Parts: sequence; C-alpha cells; structure tokens
Amino acid sequence: MALDRKTPNDLNAFWMPFTANRQFKKAPRMFVGAKDMHYTTAEGRQVLDGTAGLWCCNAGHCRPKISEAIARQAAELDYAPAFQMGHPAAFELANRIIEIAPEGMEHVFYTNSGSESVETALKLAIGYHRARGEGSRTRLIGRERGYHGVNFGGISVGGIVTNRKMFGTLLAGVDHLPHTHLPAQNAFTKGQPEHGAHLADELERIVALHGADTIAAVIVEPMSGSTGVLLPPKGYLEKLRAITKKHGILLIFDEVITGYGRLGAPFAAQHYGVTPDIMTTAKGLTNGVIPMGAVITTAEVHDAFMQGPEHMIELFHGYTYSGNPVAAAAGIATLETYKEEGLFERAAELAPYWQEALHSLKGTRHVIDIRNEGLIGAVELEPIAGTPAKRAFDAFLKAYEKGILIRTTGDIIAMSPPLIIEKAHIDQLIGTLKEVLDTLE
Ligand SMILES: Cc1ncc(COP(=O)(O)O)c(C=O)c1O
Repeated sequence: MALDRKTPNDLNAFWMPFTANRQFKKAPRMFVGAKDMHYTTAEGRQVLDGTAGLWCCNAGHCRPKISEAIARQAAELDYAPAFQMGHPAAFELANRIIEIAPEGMEHVFYTNSGSESVETALKLAIGYHRARGEGSRTRLIGRERGYHGVNFGGISVGGIVTNRKMFGTLLAGVDHLPHTHLPAQNAFTKGQPEHGAHLADELERIVALHGADTIAAVIVEPMSGSTGVLLPPKGYLEKLRAITKKHGILLIFDEVITGYGRLGAPFAAQHYGVTPDIMTTAKGLTNGVIPMGAVITTAEVHDAFMQGPEHMIELFHGYTYSGNPVAAAAGIATLETYKEEGLFERAAELAPYWQEALHSLKGTRHVIDIRNEGLIGAVELEPIAGTPAKRAFDAFLKAYEKGILIRTTGDIIAMSPPLIIEKAHIDQLIGTLKEVLDTLE
C-alpha cells in the first residue's frame, strides 16, 4: 500500500529534536509544502515563515535554481569519497565562499552542520597551537548564554544551562566570559546597545587566572541568536579582538546564524568590521536545503598544519560527507541566488523598516524588551510567575493558528524571515504578533 505522507498514522517512532514531543503528538503541526515566503500545512493553510525555517532558508523556499542544481548533481555524480579524492563542485564552492568572506579568510573545511563546524573549529584551534610548538594551549573560552550546537565541544563552550546540565562533566579546561545582556541599561535599544563593551575585559581576568599560554581560543557568536538575540554592545567585539591578539589566542566567530546575509553583509565579521581567525558556518550556506557546514580560516591557521612529508595526511579530521557533491551543488546554486537577487543588500535595505515595525510593539501587553539587528528581531515577554517559557510557547501556538511562524526560546520570541521578505509580509508578521500578544494570558 502506498504510504500517505500527509497523514502519518503513528507519530510515536520519531523522537523529535528540541521539541515538546508529548504536546506535539497530541496536536501535531505538519508542514507538507513550501514556496518562497510560505509554508503549507497538512490542513492546506498558508503560514508566513517568520523564521526562515530555522534561521536557514535565507532565499525563501523551493527556489528552482537550487532544486534543479541538486537534481542535476544527484544524477551526474551522486557521491565521491571525501578522503583522498576530490570532485569539482567542492573546490568551486570553497572559492565562492572565500570570494564573499572577509579579507584574510582563505580556506574552507566542510562539515554537515553547525554543530560539526564548531567541533571542527575547536579542534583546529588546539591543533594549530600544537603544530606551532605551543601544545600547552588547550583551554577553550566560551560565553554564558552562547549556543554552539549540541556536540560535546559545543555544549562545553556553550552557556545555555538546559543544553548542558543533563550531560555530565563535558570537556575539561573550559571557561566562560559573561554574557552581554544588560536589560537594565539597554532595554528597547534599536540595533547595537551602548553599554557593555567593558564585559570583554573579563577576558583579561580569565587570561590572568589561567595564563595565556594555556588558552587556545575564544569562541563567541558575534550576535547570539538561539539564546534569544543578544547583540554585541558597541566596541565589545573590537575589544575581544584586541585582547585575543595581544595574548596569541585565536578568535572564533560562530556565524552559523549570522553567516550568508542575515545582517545585511555576507558575514557578521564584515557587518561589525571585526575579523576573527576562524569562522563557523552552516544553515544559509545551502539555504537549509541540504545539510552542509563550512569552517573558514585564515592562511595562518591552515598553513600551520601544512608540514611533514607530503604523502602524509596533515589533519586527522573529516566527515564521510565533507563537501558531498549534492550539498556542494546546492551551496553553489544558493550563493548564486543570493548574488543574482542581491539578497544581502536587500536585507540591509529592509533592516530599518524591520526595526521600526518590531519596535512598534513597545507598549504591547507582556513585552519587556525588543532587540534587532539586520533581519533578526526578538520580543521578550514577562514570564508567567512560576511557569517560565509558557507564555511565549502559548504565543507560538496562537501565532501558528493565525498563520505566522515564529520561534521561542524561554520567554523570548525570535524572528528571522527569509531575506526575500516584502514590507507587506513584515506588516502581517508584526500585526499578527500584536494581535496574539493582546489576547494572551
Ligand atoms: C551559533 C550556532 N552555532 C551552532 C549551531 C548548531 O547548528 P546545527 O543545528 O546545524 O548543528 C547553531 C544552530 O542554531 C547556532 O545558532
């Protein structure tokens, strides 16, 4: 009997990621189609995508150029071994990434996800120092409220307690900077907040505590997304760059969300004018269509590994699907789509309209803060006493019923629409969200 994919009759087997499984399976929310700015639900409703899927479908949905490139590549060369063999698309894509990367970023290492990009970057940082004869530099410094995916390195340097506390002692030798969220001083700031650059000085305290010669790298999201859109205060990233340079510590920007146009420049590094040593990316690289990540490094990081006999592998790291042909084809078609349609510039042009629309929610019931940058926005709600995260989750469910897709983390609503969004969609998104908040307990 043919499988009816629209109405699966047993939802039990699939253990869903980062999902309230029991709630979902009682009242499933199924998408069965998507086009440009909209999803189609199993009931045939249109839902405006306010989140670009999961911060990844930057060019919108089911874009023909990307779908066709995938189909063509799958029919022509479906897979080539990733180790000791190559194929043209992976090299081509690496060059295209470097073309849009900040000056000085010259090499690309492929992964399959943001989490794997983070693990790769952390290993590169430690390996880099060892290759240069500084093997004592093994410590990794993350930040409170940071999100760097879900693997052991990523949750160790990450700073979201729910993602860490179930999983034991994690990596040893990790320390954390304080987060940069200062609501008392910065609430309702449009764009980068004024206060908080001094929080980067905490790195000097950590260096004094451990000794610079034990520290390999500092990893931060230039703008923290998943924890609820926390922006870098003015001057903060510049300070982090100066302090890391001074002490010979590598700076890693986790650009899994901010990469590929979300802030109106190819990467946050360019948007903020601060260049790290390593950048982790994924999501928007293939428009979310095929899993793929890319770690981008300077020549200095890469070249440190290029030593020893030429027949020897220089870096004992990689994945079966690193640079997979179909993913690489999707990546090339995606970057071409961004370029042809000027989507990064479009994000920059729309950002002021987006900002004003978001901030028009100031004064709406339950709203205690609003934050924005590029085409990202967050609306923070007063939690229900004793039931954190409930109010925002209710808002998410109501919003879905009313035809808009938003995301929540704790009591924060986050939005990051595809960069093809029109002003009328922004009005619909924010107008509907206001209706939802007005009627929420
Ligand atoms: C900054 C950052 N790093 C890493 C990740 C993990 O990416 P993935 O879910 O593809 O493993 C995410 C995902 O949201 C992210 O926002």
